[in-house]
Amino acid sequence: MEFFSFSRTLGSALALIASLGPLASALSVSENPLATSDQRDLDALAIEIYQDNSFPVLKAEAKAAYKTAHGSVQKAVNNDPYYPKVYWVDAGPRDWFNLEVPGGRYSYDNPDCIYRTIPISSDVDYIVTGYRHTPGPTDVSFSLISDPNSQNTVAYLAGSDLVIASDGSYIITINSSATDGRSNHIQSTSSAVQLLIRNNLGDWLSETPDNITVEAVSDVTGHDAITSAQILVDAKWNLQESIVDYGVGALGLKTSLYAVNTLSTPSQSSTLGTLTTQASSFGHFNLTDDDALVATLTPGSADYFVFPVTDPWLVTTDPASQASLNSKQSVANDNGTYTFVVSVADPGVYNWVNTTGLHEGTIMVRWQGLSSSSSDSVAIQAQTVALSDLASVLPSETRYVTAQERAVQLADRVAGYALRLES
Ligand SMILES: *[C@@H]1O[C@H](CO)[C@@H](O)[C@H](O)[C@H]1NC(C)=O
Ligand SMILES: *[C@@H]1O[C@H](CO)[C@@H](O)[C@H](O)[C@H]1NC(C)=O
Ligand SMILES: *[C@@H]1O[C@H](CO)[C@@H](O)[C@H](O)[C@H]1NC(C)=O
Ligand SMILES: *[C@@H]1O[C@H](CO)[C@@H](O)[C@H](O)[C@H]1NC(C)=O
Ligand SMILES: *[C@@H]1O[C@H](CO)[C@@H](O)[C@H](O)[C@H]1NC(C)=O
Repeated sequence: MEFFSFSRTLGSALALIASLGPLASALSVSENPLATSDQRDLDALAIEIYQDNSFPVLKAEAKAAYKTAHGSVQKAVNNDPYYPKVYWVDAGPRDWFNLEVPGGRYSYDNPDCIYRTIPISSDVDYIVTGYRHTPGPTDVSFSLISDPNSQNTVAYLAGSDLVIASDGSYIITINSSATDGRSNHIQSTSSAVQLLIRNNLGDWLSETPDNITVEAVSDVTGHDAITSAQILVDAKWNLQESIVDYGVGALGLKTSLYAVNTLSTPSQSSTLGTLTTQASSFGHFNLTDDDALVATLTPGSADYFVFPVTDPWLVTTDPASQASLNSKQSVANDNGTYTFVVSVADPGVYNWVNTTGLHEGTIMVRWQGLSSSSSDSVAIQAQTVALSDLASVLPSETRYVTAQERAVQLADRVAGYALRLES
């Protein structure tokens, strides 16, 4: 079966990449920190492995797996801790570098978040070099994790603890030495396999993700680069564990435990891929064309929050539609809370979250930048109302939009999203 017939080597993929060489000079003018040559090479390799393998068994296992098979390959192409690269994953489809990159979103991806990965081994010393643009992301974090699929955190550097030089540059060291009060150092352990970097963009039009590069400073001679065959094995495992077990399995279960059209009390946790400094509330909706879910969120001390709608398989749909709103994209009530209206039809409210045509779907609200120890005063309340009764439950100060104001809001969103895709 084709499933087992994979035989190409990394060499042929590298040849493919080499054939893209002439692009390089034309592309070096890009100012998008995501459009790097490593990104292009890994995108090309992921596409090649994905196209050469049809994943029939796992694709059949769940629609989610089918929809996210490419994401599982993207998660696997940058897994070599001796030859680390920085790779942007869990992102929507894009055309760049003359590549048609399929979408790779899974497991409650956040459309605000630029997720980048660096493979890590505790045998190797790393230097991560970064540069913070002005303005940079609203919330940044660096999580050393023991499993790229369930993401259990073994060490963590909060964006608020990162020391950035006056010229915007920063250096983070990662090795097995204790932190000992040093800033910008992350201690790796034998269970650490990946550094997951989150850059959450609040204002998509103005905020730029950090430039990030990595260097293994230890001697890595004697370690062969991982092969495409190994990448494929990892990808299949990712598909099973990340999508079926963790994504639709654990997270989906967590979501479906709650009554329909409710949102759970926010909880802070370092497991299931969430951050220790993050609170999350889960829910699933089932709305007719004439209903709305109205939710009022208390931000507490969060430096950032997001209210996204995802499909029944926990994946964001059309990022260019207003399917999510974050702390910078929404307007507050007079007392500092935020009220959102989730509906299929546009209710003419500024804080509308478009279900993108879905009558059923999922929601994972997140608050970030909280203190990791104390319980914070974050909260959320939700109710369902008929759209015709909406005004009676909304705060009197609710901001409504004209069709023209909505068009401007959406145009800004589309233009902001497009900035990530420039190459
Ligand atoms: C940040 O990255 C962009 C895109 O690669 C590049 O144009 C810019 O010079 C970099 N800035 C710094 C300070 O490294
Ligand atoms: C490990 O990181 C610490 C902190 O930055 C540094 O002092 C030390 O030299 C590093 N060890 C190696 C072997 O690079
Ligand atoms: C969604 O609601 C409709 C009625 O409006 C019902 O028929 C359907 O079974 C519900 N779906 C789920 C998954 O509960
Ligand atoms: C809501 O989302 C759908 C699906 O992406 C899109 O077709 C529609 O235009 C959006 N509605 C508005 C008013 O933006
Ligand atoms: C804040 O205002 C919202 C909207 O009017 C209301 O639902 C909520 O109860 C208020 N919260 C407090 C703590 O007064």
